[in-house]
Amino acid sequence: MATWRIIDHPILGAAPADRTVIIDFDGRPVEAIEGEPIAAALMAAGVASFRTTPVRHEPRGVFCAIGRCTDCVMTVDGVPNVRTCVTPARDGMIVRTQHGLGEWSDSGCGDSN
Ligand code: FES
Repeated sequence: MATWRIIDHPILGAAPADRTVIIDFDGRPVEAIEGEPIAAALMAAGVASFRTTPVRHEPRGVFCAIGRCTDCVMTVDGVPNVRTCVTPARDGMIVRTQHGLGEWSDSGCGDSN
């Protein structure tokens, strides 16, 4: 079975370390390898839907995986529209499914999840 881990990303480079960190995805803990793309950690955890489209509310996930298409955008630490396929995971990050255009949040919890 595929692990969905990205060992050598074309933009971020090689995964730096074997340190496991925890990110908060929609209120539940998800293990990540520090420095790997957030998207890789989520996919390894079985997450396929990262956002919903603004008009039809359809789910979207990773498509290009190199930061071009924006299908993977999520709200990260209160900031919407973060391309998770090119954003390294850090311990304690708060990652939320983005609905529509997303919302800024001072609390770091993103939109209304
Ligand atoms: S999957 Fe295309 S920008 Fe992230």
